[in-house]
Amino acid sequence: LKIEPYRPQAFIDFTKAENVQAYQTALTKVRAEQLGRHFPVIIDGQERQTEGKLVSTNPCDTSEVVGSTGKASIQDAEDALNGAWTAFESWKTWTMDARARVLLKAAAILKRRRLEACALMTLEVGKNYAEADVEVAEGIDFLEYYAREAMKYEGFGAAETTWFDGEENGLMYLPLGVGVSISPWNFPCAIFLGMLAAPIVVGNTMIVKPAEDSGMIAGLMIEILIEAGLPAGVVQFLPGVGEEVGEYLTTHARTRFITFTGSRNVGLHINEVAARHQKGQKFIKRVIMELGGKDALIIDETADPEVAVTAAVQGGFGFNGQKCSAMSRLIVVDSVYDDIVGQFVERVGRLKVGTGEENAAVTAVVNQESFDKVSSYLEIGGSEGKVLLGGEATGEQGGLTGHYVQPTIIGDLDAQSRMAQEEIFGPVVSVLRARDWAHALEIANSTEYGLTGGVCSRDRARLEQARREFEVGNLYFNRKITGAIVGVQPFGGYNMSGTDSKAGGPEYLGNFMQLKAVTERW
Ligand code: NAD
Ligand code: ALA
Repeated sequence: LKIEPYRPQAFIDFTKAENVQAYQTALTKVRAEQLGRHFPVIIDGQERQTEGKLVSTNPCDTSEVVGSTGKASIQDAEDALNGAWTAFESWKTWTMDARARVLLKAAAILKRRRLEACALMTLEVGKNYAEADVEVAEGIDFLEYYAREAMKYEGFGAAETTWFDGEENGLMYLPLGVGVSISPWNFPCAIFLGMLAAPIVVGNTMIVKPAEDSGMIAGLMIEILIEAGLPAGVVQFLPGVGEEVGEYLTTHARTRFITFTGSRNVGLHINEVAARHQKGQKFIKRVIMELGGKDALIIDETADPEVAVTAAVQGGFGFNGQKCSAMSRLIVVDSVYDDIVGQFVERVGRLKVGTGEENAAVTAVVNQESFDKVSSYLEIGGSEGKVLLGGEATGEQGGLTGHYVQPTIIGDLDAQSRMAQEEIFGPVVSVLRARDWAHALEIANSTEYGLTGGVCSRDRARLEQARREFEVGNLYFNRKITGAIVGVQPFGGYNMSGTDSKAGGPEYLGNFMQLKAVTERW
């Protein structure tokens, strides 16, 4: 396979008027051509009509139906599993090159349809232009990166073994079989694509269950993969309810592995049911988990205030704080607390709240459940700390009814308070005062999570200490703590944040293969 070395996609510059104009044209086109579209369940390459459907509404204007997907039944899940095992027999015999070409072609199509995918995401989950663009770029990167990574595993002897006289020894990488991918709504293009592209490129077949709130974007990605030449049955598209088809598949005796990205509680539940042996089950299911976070940024007295406050604003409020990587705790050293927190509150107070379509900095949270959950934390925040900004879930903005929550900052929280320990997943930042640097690092490490973290400091010794002791999978210095780039910052967390599988990293494909050592005596 002749391809140039991997390079991440550049992001679109929305300070340029022509790019804003192009985005708005894409929104108009998507409104005309995609609004109201239905993406059906697809099993063995055939579209299936289902009894029910899952309807997507625009979180920024809940009166608007964006479209729908099929709602898979248990029988659909069973058929998908059987079909995927059948497809596996052929797909596993394809060379890495041949499978990689499907990903590369899909990446090429997605590059051409980039703004269309972005615009659909703006309507379905409320991302503004830059957030949607960064995500579609990440989706393209996953396809491009895993296609190239797969080449490392081709053929007998791909892994290093030691020479032994009189024998030929070698290690072969083999796919596992049929996997189930269960993905979240907050990165409905990139994470959805990454979680299926990695397993299939090394020869597995997959059943993919997108989140209920973002099935249309997932459906569009499947359409692109099919256009790229993905054979029937290699990816079974199974939009449906997590507690129904998700539960059925994760429990099933013939599911070989599960790749899950989502909340801690659902992840732990899946881990538990997957561990239970079912009648007729021949293997121990492999489980790859990417879960939540309670990510902290530390700002000390040596930090450049402009750099630090910018990092806090971007990390805390990008996509309304609805990222596993979001800065949901800001820890500031006492001697600069008032100054830094004052600047932070002032900058966040200037963020425009509105729709994704008008490219507001903060838009609506994804659904009613999320709105209710975030609202309940606003109350908790008011009783546990001091409301420095916002504090209200308004449910409307500019005459539109939507899941709007004011950007909120709660100060002077105790490190063990619920606001400082529990994932909120909305535009709410908990601020904590630390006595000094050592105390700040101790607070940062005081949750059960360990996904992202950051330090804004100009003290070299402290940065080195954080490098060793800050217990997170992704650590950033003097910048925001979100926005990992495929191949550049392999992504995944410690502790309750997941199995540290590092999506977009050089070890990731290994999660989806097993090794066979073969010896021939000469
Ligand atoms: P969620 O856990 O509610 O849902 C995730 C998926 O699990 C959905 O597809 C859902 O339908 C499915 N599901 C629900 N119950 C199930 C069950 N019993 N069996 C099988 N599947 C089931 O999470 P969400 O609200 O979609 O996403 C937000 C969460 O995801 C946050 O906690 C966030 O931190 C986390 N997340 C983590 C990462 C990461 O890389 N670590 C990335 C993105 C999001
Ligand atoms: N990969 C995403 C980020 O780093 C979650 O923000």
